[in-house]
Amino acid sequence: MANNAIVLAGGQGKRMKTEAPKVLCEVLGEAMVGWVLDACEDAGLEKVCVIKGYKAEMLEEYLEKRENKADVTSVLQAEQLGTGHAVMQAKAFLSENKDGNTLVLNGDAPFIDAATINGALEQHISGGSAVTVVTAHIADPKGYGRIIRSESGLEAIVEHKDCTPEQLGIDEVNSGCYWFRTADLIEVLGEIKNNNAQGEYYLTDCIELLMAKGRKADAYASENPDVVLGANDRRALLELNNIARFDVIGRHLDNGVEFVCTDGVIIGKDVKIGCGTVIGANVELRGKTVIGSGCHIRTGCIIENCTIGNGVDLNYVQAYESVVEDNAKIGPFVQLRPDSHIMRGVKIGDFVEVKNSTVGEYTAVAHLTYVGDSDVGANVNFGCGVVTVNYNGEKKFRTTIGDNAFIGCNTNLVAPVKVGNGAYTAAGSTITKDVPDNALAIERGTTQIKENYGLRRLRHHCEKLEKARAQEKNKD
Ligand code: UD1
Ligand code: CA
Repeated sequence: MANNAIVLAGGQGKRMKTEAPKVLCEVLGEAMVGWVLDACEDAGLEKVCVIKGYKAEMLEEYLEKRENKADVTSVLQAEQLGTGHAVMQAKAFLSENKDGNTLVLNGDAPFIDAATINGALEQHISGGSAVTVVTAHIADPKGYGRIIRSESGLEAIVEHKDCTPEQLGIDEVNSGCYWFRTADLIEVLGEIKNNNAQGEYYLTDCIELLMAKGRKADAYASENPDVVLGANDRRALLELNNIARFDVIGRHLDNGVEFVCTDGVIIGKDVKIGCGTVIGANVELRGKTVIGSGCHIRTGCIIENCTIGNGVDLNYVQAYESVVEDNAKIGPFVQLRPDSHIMRGVKIGDFVEVKNSTVGEYTAVAHLTYVGDSDVGANVNFGCGVVTVNYNGEKKFRTTIGDNAFIGCNTNLVAPVKVGNGAYTAAGSTITKDVPDNALAIERGTTQIKENYGLRRLRHHCEKLEKARAQEKNKD
């Protein structure tokens, strides 16, 4: 007996006015359907079948890129004829789990959580129900299916458009998330009709069909009213973003993270931040980013899928898919492109770009420098304006710099090239040969001094001016 899930994600979402399927609209940078899949996986469900429909190939591409923890497959619903019709497409998936239970949930309601999924399952199993609907009481039930309760559990779900004036007053609504005993669901799926206000096959009709057969239907009211919230248009999507944003910030506040203000602060739901770290204004932390404790993530940082150690100071830094170790100090106006590894105590200053490189402990790259495809040792000093010349228009090559090396200002290191331990390059040199340990490489024309050159130029200039003036006078 297994507990599997079906995620409904076939709808176009016309009111959202997007080219993609609606469920790919993002809340805090993660597709709504991704939130739903995460909740299923957090709840320990092993197999998930996603119903795709409108622009199915875009949803497929998303599912392929996602790091799925569960066994996630998808089935096509060629025409979108309603939520009941959507589940019918997963018949084969349901048949594999006839003895178990199946969770059906909407891909456009991102705030469903593992505690609700498992709480509802417990009640579903212990109550011996054929179906258990997850509900919540909300202030504005407009648009949602209303829950009609009976003495023993649930009597019906009535869609907003099909409600009587009295039913419109009910504030307990259907979240679109249900546990079914799989065999019971299979039995009634084929019996659903489309004789309603929308002409659709409503999944919610399963409840009355099951009850007519004498099976038990129940409702589980979630403690988290946000589980019902979905987005059918851009306004609702923005609202979901606002709710999620402050929810995430609240969680970090509880963990001892300091926010000076929350203006423009957007933190992804999976980001982890250590205690005592201070987050400035306009900071975006994305993806699987992990930040240690005692850091200063100052104004304007964007950090995506990075691991940041303890005591790190970032100021106007953009960092992607990179690692920054303890006590590094970086910024302002620095970009760390993917696969950069900045080790302990490194200092990186203004207008520096690092890409696919390791920068060793306590190395300093203070200003106006490009470090690309390089392996830099410890305690290296970069002068201003150093460039690792990694690309010849066709291929990329690596630069290696040993410990304690000193790279003079405006050095070009033409890769592939190695600068040894303790070696020096003279300012302005273009280095095309390897530099042995402790050597100095200098590549520079000899400075020539032309005495009184400036005075000769000045005299020439004055003579020209006098001539011009004399000509003007002659004209008068
Ligand atoms: C549904 C419920 C309603 C509940 C609400 C909660 C029904 C009949 N109504 O209404 O009681 O309060 O969710 O949000 O189920 N989908 C498909 N194929 C289809 C139609 C829809 O895959 O043919 C998918 C959509 O992509 C969406 C989900 O099913 O992710 C829900 O569909 P939607 O049309 O948004 O249902 P609601 O009208 O919101
Ligand atoms: Ca909806």
